[in-house]
This record gives sequence, structure tokens and C-alpha cells, in this order.
Amino acid sequence: MQRIGVMTSGGDAPGMNANVRAVVRTGVSRGVQVFGIRDGFAGLISDEIIPMTSQSVGGIIGKGGTILGTARCEEFRDPAGRAKAAQTLRKHGIEGIVVCGGDGSFRGAHLLWKEHNIPVICTPGTIDNDLAGTDYTIGFDTAVNTALEAIDRIRDTAEAHRRTFIVEVMGRHSGFIALATAIGGGADAVLVPEIPPDIPRIISMVERRFAAGKRFSLIVVAEGVVIDDFPGAGSVAHILKKHGLDCRVSIIGHQQRGGAPTALDREFASLLGKEAVEELLRGGTNKMAGIVGKRVEFCDLEYSWREKKPIDMEVYRFISEAAI
Ligand code: F6P
Repeated sequence: MQRIGVMTSGGDAPGMNANVRAVVRTGVSRGVQVFGIRDGFAGLISDEIIPMTSQSVGGIIGKGGTILGTARCEEFRDPAGRAKAAQTLRKHGIEGIVVCGGDGSFRGAHLLWKEHNIPVICTPGTIDNDLAGTDYTIGFDTAVNTALEAIDRIRDTAEAHRRTFIVEVMGRHSGFIALATAIGGGADAVLVPEIPPDIPRIISMVERRFAAGKRFSLIVVAEGVVIDDFPGAGSVAHILKKHGLDCRVSIIGHQQRGGAPTALDREFASLLGKEAVEELLRGGTNKMAGIVGKRVEFCDLEYSWREKKPIDMEVYRFISEAAI
């Protein structure tokens, strides 16, 4: 392979730049020409391809966002869109691509390979950590640390006012961010999309804590939790208020997607980028590079979204049962 492409796709995640940097540097060191694809699959359709060198990725390892840009591309869901994308790659003589993104991006990459025989290797880039075949996804660690900083501040004001706070973190379909934020932030309860919420238990926990002289309670809720058709932290607040419990809601939101990546995100994103290129050059395709233990391992791309990665029930029980 003489020419490869790299793109970031779907929701951005801190560490994507470190991943792109490693792809470019590894490619260059193997004598391969590397091309950046702007704005994910959208840039493939609209032919936004830029040649990249070691200089183009200088100084980006500590930057949040993605220098290539990213998008959620509707047109790529259509076979005609994918045909245009394949045509762009052929036009530039690009023989294989590395795609950093989440499950939606992986499905797109898989179809590009299946329908147009374009070799694809993916790296897990999503703050949600909801991909099977990897312990970790790029951006998750930074997102959790950002949420923790917020929760530490919220605790101060909650304690000052003797209040209950319901803190909403990201995770439309998964509770990994919520669980890690809850255990690290010392929350008294956590609600995740994977487990039906036990509202009576939460109400009695808040009441018991105040009766025991505690000045605050913290409840972490993943955005994907739905109660009586209402999503997220607001639904929990509504119920607590109906029971006469004073509470406030804080939604951390997209702050979790930005900011400088942590050491862990930089390290793993770099390793994954390097190994992805090596695999592409070995002739591999339709695979995801993941972190298992502390090492890079590959799995079939379909496995990453077909298999449901389970949340850690021991952590969930510890948070829910240990609160007084
Ligand atoms: O997939 C990452 C993620 O941040 C989810 O946690 C969140 O639900 C979603 O993206 C938000 O996407 P958007 O920024 O497109 O609204």
C-alpha cells in the first residue's frame, strides 16, 4: 500500500488528534503517503482530501476536538453516498483508510469495505466507551475527568445549601460515563439506561441521608435514562419534587466532549493509531483495534457493535447499596 487515508467521524472525543497524529507518523515512517479526510464520511463524499505530513500533525497531541473535523453524515447511509465516497478514494489512489469513531462510523466503514472492497481499520473514538472488543475508547477517560471536576464543584454548593443534586452526564444508550463518574465523584446513586431505575429506593436514600445528618445527596444520571417517557435528570427531579424533596439539576453536556485529553487518552489513542496502520499495511481489513488489558488487540468490526458491552454490576451495586 502506497497511499492511505485517515478520518475522524461521529461525535468528537478528546484524544482523536493523538490518534490521527500516530496514524500519520506511522504511515510516514513506513514510506506511505497519508491523506486526511475532512469531516468524516461527509468529506469523502464532497472530496475534501488533504495530504498530510509529520508537520501537519505537529503540536496536536494535547488538543481537544479533531483537526480533521467530524460529522454525522446522513448521505453516507445511502448506497449512492457510499459509491461517491469510494469514487473519491479511487480518484486519489487511496488504497485503505483508518476510521476513528463510534459504532455508527464503524457500520459505515464496514459497508465501504463490503460494497466497494476498500480496506478499513477502525479505532474506537467515542467518549461513551460503549464498544465491545475494547476495555476503553478514546475520549472516555477525559470525559469522566471533566464530569468529575464538575461534580466536585457541585458537591460544594450542595453541601452549603443542604441540597440534593441530580447531575446528568452523557450516554444516550450506555451508562459507562455515569458509572465511572458516580464512583469517582462519591455519588449516592447512579441511574443508567441498562438498568430500570428504582425510584422508591432513591427517595428513601435521600430521606435517610438527611435524617442521618448528611448535608447533601448526589445522584448521577445518564442522559439516556427514561422515566415515564421523560429523559434524563429532569425526570428524576420531577419525581423527587413531587415527594417534597428540594433538588437541583445540573447537566454537564458537551463540555465532556471537549478539552485537552488526559495522559491515558493520549497514550492509548497513540498506540491504537500506530497499530491500526500496521494492520492496514499487513493487509488487514474490517477490524477494530482495541485495548484489552493494556495491549492492542484486534476484533472483527461487526463484533464491536453487535456484542453488548456490559456495565460493571459490582460497581453499580456498590454505589447503590453503600449509600446512607
Ligand atoms: O456519542 C457520543 C455522544 O457524546 C453521546 O454521549 C451523546 O448522546 C451524543 O454523542 C450527542 O451527540 P450530538 O453532539 O450529535 O448531539
